[in-house]
Amino acid sequence: MSGISERQALKIGVLISGGGSNLQAIIDAIRTDNLNIEIVKVISSRPDAYGLVRAQEAGIDTCSLNKELYANPALANELIASEFVRAEAEYIVMAGYMRKLGTEVLDVFPDRVINLHPALLPSFKGAHGIEDAFNAGVKLTGITIHFANAEYDKGPIIAQRAVAIEENDTLEMLTEKIHALEHELYPQVLRLLSEGKIAIDETRKVRIDG
Ligand code: GRF
Repeated sequence: MSGISERQALKIGVLISGGGSNLQAIIDAIRTDNLNIEIVKVISSRPDAYGLVRAQEAGIDTCSLNKELYANPALANELIASEFVRAEAEYIVMAGYMRKLGTEVLDVFPDRVINLHPALLPSFKGAHGIEDAFNAGVKLTGITIHFANAEYDKGPIIAQRAVAIEENDTLEMLTEKIHALEHELYPQVLRLLSEGKIAIDETRKVRIDG
């Protein structure tokens, strides 16, 4: 007996819409960096998302929204909530999920939905954060990981990292830099979450223990 009590893996459900490179970064961190997390289910807003293949290759249960569900956000959100409850997810992690989550999910997982945004919130909210920052000519942009709430891209911020936009950077180069940083920071934040070190205080600001 080691005497050290082992914490149970934190169960998360992951939402995706596309390539799933952030999902892959989480899967890899679980495998190789002892990230104490179990991905209990991956749900995609699109049936052709490559992230679904990544999940299936990792042996993770998946499902995706069909056309009818996609066209009915309230029903889609209800399905997402019930699937994640059924899979016993403790948190929902959005990894490139390109739709707004409604109260049907947020009320079932209050302060338990985390989102990744490819800009320094509150700047460049919305679906084109990288491009909007690039086109605005700002010299600094970055990434934000935050709790999601009913106001789009506005929940309490957990972590941010900055990326410089150099004069010769193209949009593609900036996109690559942003993605590399996302793949590094998301697993780090999830590690803190799995260790119970992330909390929202009475002023609705995030406090990170240690
Ligand atoms: C990421 O840049 C994320 O910030 C944005 O969509 C992208 C998803 O990429 N919301 P992937 O599907 O994880 O490869």
